[in-house]
Amino acid sequence: MRIHRPLIAGNWKMHGLRGSAGELEKIIAGARKLPEVEMVICPPATLIMSFAATAFGSPITVGGQDCHAEAVGAFTGDISAEMLKDAGATAVIVGHSERRRYHGESDAVVQAKANAAFRAGLIAIVCVGETRAEREAGRALAVVGSQIEGSLPEGAGDFVVAYEPVWAIGTGLTPTPGDVAAMHHFIRERLESRYSESGQGVRILYGGSVKPTNARELLAVKNVDGALVGGASLVAEEFLKIASACR
Ligand code: 13P
Repeated sequence: MRIHRPLIAGNWKMHGLRGSAGELEKIIAGARKLPEVEMVICPPATLIMSFAATAFGSPITVGGQDCHAEAVGAFTGDISAEMLKDAGATAVIVGHSERRRYHGESDAVVQAKANAAFRAGLIAIVCVGETRAEREAGRALAVVGSQIEGSLPEGAGDFVVAYEPVWAIGTGLTPTPGDVAAMHHFIRERLESRYSESGQGVRILYGGSVKPTNARELLAVKNVDGALVGGASLVAEEFLKIASACR
């Protein structure tokens, strides 16, 4: 089993212009003081190349927010995992709930993207999570179980699972530490039964309204191996406070 450092990933979503490079520079400066934490920033695709150049040789790596399953082809507007790699990315988020919802991505599509990431030598950050209605109906474990089943890569490559309850994203709401513990334990069991020993080394991130104020409590939960941070990753100071809560 590979032992990894905790991973704090920043998903900038559709935020950021070239002028945001200053925030990245602040993140890089702070990350030098936190060698025990791995950090990746996933800016919009337009910034990947310049961010990767700025971050080169630093503790920060850069990731994409989505990729196409194919390496090349007639897919107007899409970007392949190989292209992200070529631009300097080391990771890519796949199956974010916003992609599943606004772009109709099924588990099968997400799995194909996760496989593409593996093919290109990128770490896939595969997102799963239930809606509020599904949680209220007592179906959270069942929903996440089937997303895990359908969207994780076929091989036991280098990938990360991000549990992001849809109702916690951008709302300021978070599950209780007990609910996070139950879900992450469940995901860990599924990973171990599917990938045997290497499933023990897969990092399971929590995402959804992670802030400096709640990071310590969430990151202390067993089987929480880091966080996928949205809004708070846009501000270097907040992102670094969350990363330092891993200690
Ligand atoms: P927030 O941290 O803004 O809730 O977003 C979480 C998320 O969707 C990260 O991928």
